[in-house]
Amino acid sequence: MAARKLLILPGDGIGVEVMAQVRRIIDWMAKKRKIEFDVSEGLIGGAAYDVHGTPFPAETLAAAMQADAVLLGAVGGPKWDDLPFDKKPERGLLGIRKEMGLFANLRPATVLDALADASTLKHDVVAGLDIMILRELTGGLYFGEPRGIETLADGSRKGFNTLVYTTPEIVRIGRVAFELARKRGKRLCSVDKANVLECTVLWREEMIKLQKEEFPDVELSHMYVDNAAMQLVRNPKQFDVMVTENMFGDILSDCAAMLTGSLGMLPSASLGAADADGKRKALYEPVHGSAPDIAGKDMANPLATILSFAMCLRYSFDMVAEAEMIETAVKNVLKGGLRTADIMQAGKAKVSTTVMGEAVVRELDKMNA
Ligand code: IPM
Ligand code: MG
Repeated sequence: MAARKLLILPGDGIGVEVMAQVRRIIDWMAKKRKIEFDVSEGLIGGAAYDVHGTPFPAETLAAAMQADAVLLGAVGGPKWDDLPFDKKPERGLLGIRKEMGLFANLRPATVLDALADASTLKHDVVAGLDIMILRELTGGLYFGEPRGIETLADGSRKGFNTLVYTTPEIVRIGRVAFELARKRGKRLCSVDKANVLECTVLWREEMIKLQKEEFPDVELSHMYVDNAAMQLVRNPKQFDVMVTENMFGDILSDCAAMLTGSLGMLPSASLGAADADGKRKALYEPVHGSAPDIAGKDMANPLATILSFAMCLRYSFDMVAEAEMIETAVKNVLKGGLRTADIMQAGKAKVSTTVMGEAVVRELDKMNA
């Protein structure tokens, strides 16, 4: 079979260190399971700006479009804070999502048994949590036009953005959501602000229509976004799959991430439309950011990025067995008591990024024996 083309974009800050641990897993797959990837590396974010003067160089886009999957670390840092808006590292991330057409952002929030006490919420509220937030990623308030900052005739200034969705945009994210729900608990909650925003009235109408026409076996409910934020911390286990607008999803997924006790544990996948062969453009990244305060200190938690690679195996390469092996290896390492600083608990062993990566490889070896 043709080599699996993987583009790695470590980005900035801890992105570089955590990605180095994923490289170990990739090497392990080749050596021990004869699963070879054709891996190349590229620049994005501040790292790209420093070399090319732009956070999203044309060659990075070209490489991404040719890859079967892209693995991204994180972008951003204080070094680039004072750059103009269009040169900021974050523009690289938004650019690659938009140019690759990655409209479906899967953000699972699961609480692993070993970490149920790491959450700031009570154990019973979060133990066993397993929800999926599906965030629309290439439209809505993040990309709507018109947008900008203008000076008015009287000298005062006006800042504005636009919340806009067309029916095809709503239907395609809706389909991904219903399909995900169908493979899980068959319950979908669509989050909107239909009591105030017309755009999301349309969103709700289209979700209802789609459910009737194509997914009658999936139970659909609706919730206003403010209530959804409240329900996520009150009783998160009531949810199975949630689907929502880009910015609502940005906010709710951070909230969901914290339920799990560590942002350092959460992977994500961003998928485009399926082509004629059913293949989707795809980018996988940890939900956490570049954490400049701990960058370069070998302290960061590599597990979210390692789990993002597991998602990559599952969704882009249909390698479910290997994806599960990685997920089990991570669980076992945690069960064994190893913790990076962000998830440290009394009585456990605090380890570095590198040691955590090595431990995952050791678990893989055990399982493969
Ligand atoms: C995320 C991040 C990004 C976003 C930033 C870094 C542009 O917060 O992936 O959730 O807002 O989408
Ligand atoms: Mg965010």
